[in-house]
Amino acid sequence: MLKMILNADIKKGQINKNIYGHFSEHLGRCIYEGIWVGEDSAIPNINGFRTDVVEALKNLKIPVLRWPGGCFADEYHWKDGIGPKENRPYMVNTHWGGVVENNHFGTHEFMELCEMIGAQPCICGNVGSGTVQEMQQWVEYMTFDGKSPMADLRRSNGKEDSWSLKYFGVGNENWGCGGNMRPEYYADLYKRYATYIRNFGKDKIYKIAGGASVDDYHWTEVLMREAGTWMNGLSLHYYTRVSKDWTIKGSATEFEENEWFSVMQNALYMEELVTRHSHIMDQYDPEKKVGLIVDEWGTWFTVEPGTNPGFLYQQNTLRDALVAGIHLNLFNNHCDRVQMANIAQTVNVLQAVVLTEGGGMILTPTYHIFDMFKVHQEAQLLSVDFESPEYTYNGEKIPQLSVSSSLDKDGKIHVSICNLNPVQDIDIDIDIRGKTAKSVSGKILTSQAMNSKNTFEDSNNVKIDVFGNTQLENNHVKGKIPSKSVVVLELV
Ligand code: AHR
Repeated sequence: MLKMILNADIKKGQINKNIYGHFSEHLGRCIYEGIWVGEDSAIPNINGFRTDVVEALKNLKIPVLRWPGGCFADEYHWKDGIGPKENRPYMVNTHWGGVVENNHFGTHEFMELCEMIGAQPCICGNVGSGTVQEMQQWVEYMTFDGKSPMADLRRSNGKEDSWSLKYFGVGNENWGCGGNMRPEYYADLYKRYATYIRNFGKDKIYKIAGGASVDDYHWTEVLMREAGTWMNGLSLHYYTRVSKDWTIKGSATEFEENEWFSVMQNALYMEELVTRHSHIMDQYDPEKKVGLIVDEWGTWFTVEPGTNPGFLYQQNTLRDALVAGIHLNLFNNHCDRVQMANIAQTVNVLQAVVLTEGGGMILTPTYHIFDMFKVHQEAQLLSVDFESPEYTYNGEKIPQLSVSSSLDKDGKIHVSICNLNPVQDIDIDIDIRGKTAKSVSGKILTSQAMNSKNTFEDSNNVKIDVFGNTQLENNHVKGKIPSKSVVVLELV
């Protein structure tokens, strides 16, 4: 029996709802087909947006949506995506499959999507191949309400009032697809571009500098040293794969316990990354004003057989659900520094929450994790003391459990628990300190097999169930957390 102490009276900070953010790029079938089908499509839509996808995303209470990339952002010229659709120039999406991008989904469409699903937009600007003026004018176009050339252009395109824009990223992966720069060079460019991102509108724009890849601590050091006082957030990108070797991606659906274990291990590596990047940030920003923005995370496997390798379309299994639970728990637990995180990517790309095929749509196991965990948004992180047993495989060890807990504004406590061991259940005894609980209820996501998934033929194979396997006695919650499961308990 594993004993845990839940300290309901030890609050460790507010969990920024933006930790539950998403990322949608002009990549493969994320935007086109996945979200946008156009007004004339036979697929049911509202103003060109798929009705089924919009409804599914709305339910997740997505706080913030990052767009238009990714690598695409540093090749995107926003003026190509405004005005009458038939006049919009096309381009080649060189990063992602070399397909023709017709620019039918542009600024107006993205802002409308955000309004429909209730998310704040987070726009990523073009530093790699765009000018300072272009970026400045984009912000003016979106946010200026007075008389100005860009505000007038917006009005001529049918939008009288400006939009609310709180978050703006100054380039993407500037060490790679965003310009192959040195951190010293990018730090200077960041300051130059960021200077001209004016606060025209009512929102003070939160400026996000392009951050490190994985464990490039030197990048974080240089950016914080040279530009830390000019930014509100600094990004970090890390993808979970079966191997640290980038060329070995493994299958999304066909795997044994060795690849289950390595994926869990690699997902947990995010803990070390967040801790070490945060330590560097602490040296330059001890008051933690600058947020660590994990604006790309998730699993990256080999594409589904027969699909365009440049489209990054992969299926999603119970293993992905565990990866999502691990990440969200650890972002919650680091809410003193992590102010935003965006899973890659919303629809049909990488660790998607929704997959589509023609007029069909399915919710992935990852979708259900976001659904279960949304109760943590804006809640107070609580301290939980426990020593996790180990999950050992082939001589290697990782913690068996990943846990976080929070107290919401209505006084409800939520505890999210992931059991990473695919074969061993675990009995737990949670001693609740600092509050008397009257009742406990729960939800669970699990399945028979490690690689269980939802398909277009069987869309409800992996779904949220009621978790009744707990008792509340003398302010202790006792229960059995099944192997390979994610449980969210609610204590009232
Ligand atoms: O999410 C796919 C790609 O991964 C993004 O475009 C890029 O930023 C990252 O390398």
